[in-house]
Amino acid sequence: MEIINRRKRMMSVARRLRREEHRTIGLVPTMGALHEGHLSLIHEARALCDVVVVSVFVNPTQFGPTEDFAAYPRDLTRDSALLAEYNVDYVFAPAAEEMYPPGAATFVTVEGLSNELEGASRPGHFRGVTTVVAILLNVVRPHFAFFGQKDAQQAIIIKQMVRDLAFEAEIVVLPIVREQSGLALSSRNTYLDPQQRQAAAVINGALLRARAAYDDGEHNATRLIDMVREQIGQEPLARIDYVSINDATTLEKLDKIDDQPALLSIAVFIGKTRLIDNVVLGESKKNVVSANA
Ligand code: PAF
Repeated sequence: MEIINRRKRMMSVARRLRREEHRTIGLVPTMGALHEGHLSLIHEARALCDVVVVSVFVNPTQFGPTEDFAAYPRDLTRDSALLAEYNVDYVFAPAAEEMYPPGAATFVTVEGLSNELEGASRPGHFRGVTTVVAILLNVVRPHFAFFGQKDAQQAIIIKQMVRDLAFEAEIVVLPIVREQSGLALSSRNTYLDPQQRQAAAVINGALLRARAAYDDGEHNATRLIDMVREQIGQEPLARIDYVSINDATTLEKLDKIDDQPALLSIAVFIGKTRLIDNVVLGESKKNVVSANA
């Protein structure tokens, strides 16, 4: 496994792999602090591609001024050891100046979709995400890029960007990986103390309750959202940022779920930690993988 810090080196490796060796490249973009959710993406990339590149970069442009950029967990030594175990071929771990050289002034924005849900709570967040992912796609030139369904809106926006800007990569979205308690894996879970971690299980519990109600025939979005709010409201450590039901492809807000799959998504503060989760209503239940499976 080679750890690459320079854009130029990564680009020349990618060029050789593609042009001379005709190998299929899979990219797993991460911000490090790797967990089983990332490992499930790497596992799939390994199965689908000849060469697996994992990027580890805590991207400053996707954090708001009052968010946790400085505190975000960073441990490249631990991450690299894990990635070596998983037979990753290249770790691309650039410094900020490599990704955004002095004078960089170009951003990529997917209009509309970027202002909904997470975008409404975190202005500018998706502009940072799409910009960094566009740079990564240009530098690594992957045939496939792998993302988690936990960041469902991010995946939708990246797919739209890839379509609009004619990137070659195919975007692969893989199911949420959960702890035994149902808590969706996230690097931010490391901020939770044991009591908060236990309390955070209420998020998935509420989503599952709404899904059961949906399966029993409740297709009214307001009533499903109220159900989620009511259950989360019973947990004193939890404070809801938003609960929403949207079309799972266009993110259009829905009053009623008809034939199309709907994304029930949620953001909740547990103490100071902001967690997101979601479930898709109206599709098979394959969307849940346990970390212990
Ligand atoms: O999902 C993440 O970890 C980040 O948003 C990503 C895609 C690596 C871009 O920084």
